[in-house]
Amino acid sequence: MVEPAVEYAGLGFAYGADRWALRELSTTIPAGQLTALIGHTGSGKSTLMELTDGLLLPTSGTVTVFGQQITAATKKKELAPLRKKVGFVFQFPEHQLFADSVLADVMFGPQNLGANPTSAKEAATAALTRLGLPAALFDRSPFELSGGQQRRVALAGVLAMNPQLLILDEPTAGLDPTGQAELLSLITELKAQGLTIIMITHQMEQVARLADTVRVLDGGQLVFAGTPADLFAQPDLLAAHHLTPPAAVTFAKQLDWAAADPQPLTAATLAAQLAKQLKGGTGNG
Ligand SMILES: Nc1ncnc2c1ncn2[C@@H]1O[C@H](COP(=O)(O)OP(=O)(O)OP(=O)(O)O)[C@@H](O)[C@H]1O
Ligand SMILES: [Mg+2]
Repeated sequence: MVEPAVEYAGLGFAYGADRWALRELSTTIPAGQLTALIGHTGSGKSTLMELTDGLLLPTSGTVTVFGQQITAATKKKELAPLRKKVGFVFQFPEHQLFADSVLADVMFGPQNLGANPTSAKEAATAALTRLGLPAALFDRSPFELSGGQQRRVALAGVLAMNPQLLILDEPTAGLDPTGQAELLSLITELKAQGLTIIMITHQMEQVARLADTVRVLDGGQLVFAGTPADLFAQPDLLAAHHLTPPAAVTFAKQLDWAAADPQPLTAATLAAQLAKQLKGGTGNG
C-alpha cells in the first residue's frame, strides 16, 4: 500500500480557550493525487492547512506529513524539514510579491532555504517556465503584470522551492475567466506530473474536473471523505453542508438524466453523453 502523504489522527485545534476550529479529525491525504478540501465558510479548511504546514501546532492529536509526526509538543526548530516539503500558496498570494523583478521575487524562496544565487536562479527560471511565464517578463516588476500573471509568479515562488506537497488555498479566487482557465490547466499539468496537491475551493466545477478525492469539513469536523462521484451522488449530504452540486449534475437531473452511467459531473461529460444519445436517436440512414 502506498504511504499517505499526510495523515491526521484525532486532530483538534483551538484558537483560544474553548474556541475549537477543528475537532477529532482523522483522515489521510493520498500521495500523488489532487485532494479537494471543501466546506462552507469558517468550517476550518485554512486552519487544517496551516496545521499541515507547521504554521500552527495541534492542540490535540497528530498530523503526520511524509512520515514526520507533529504534536502539541513539537518544537519550532523541528519544523524546518517540514517547511521544505510543503509549499503553501495562500489566498491572494500576489499580495505578498515584493521584489523589484519577477526573477528576484521567485529566487527569494530557494535562497531562503540556503541555495546559492546560481542554483536559486536556475530553480526560479525552471519554475517560471513551468508556469508558462515568458522570459521577457523575468526582469519586469511583478507589479506591472496582469492579475493572472502575478498569481503565476507567486505560485512559481513556491514551486521553485521544489515542494513534495503543494497546498493551494482558493487558487482561482478573484481571477477573470481567462486567468481562472489558465490557472486550472496549470494545476492539471502539475497534477499530471505526479505532485501531491491539496486544493481548497468553493467551486464544485473545479472539484468535479480536477479532484481525485474530496474531504468535506463542517464546523471543524470531517463529514465526508471519498470521490467526487460519490459526493455528488448524495444531494442530501450536499444540502446538509451548504454545498451546491456542479451545474452539470443539476442540469442532468432536470433532464431526468440521472440514470446515466457514469453520472455526468462536468459539462463536457454531459455533452458527450447527450451527443451519443442524440446520434443514436436519429440513426444514420
Ligand atoms: N486567527 C484566528 N483567531 C481566532 N479564530 C480564528 C482565527 N482564524 C480562524 N478562526 C476561526 O476558526 C474557524 C475556522 O476558520 P478557517 O479560517 O479555518 O475556515 P475556512 O474553512 O478556511 O473558511 P473560509 O472558507 O471563509 O476561508 C472559524 O470559526 C474562524 O472564525
Ligand atoms: Mg479559508
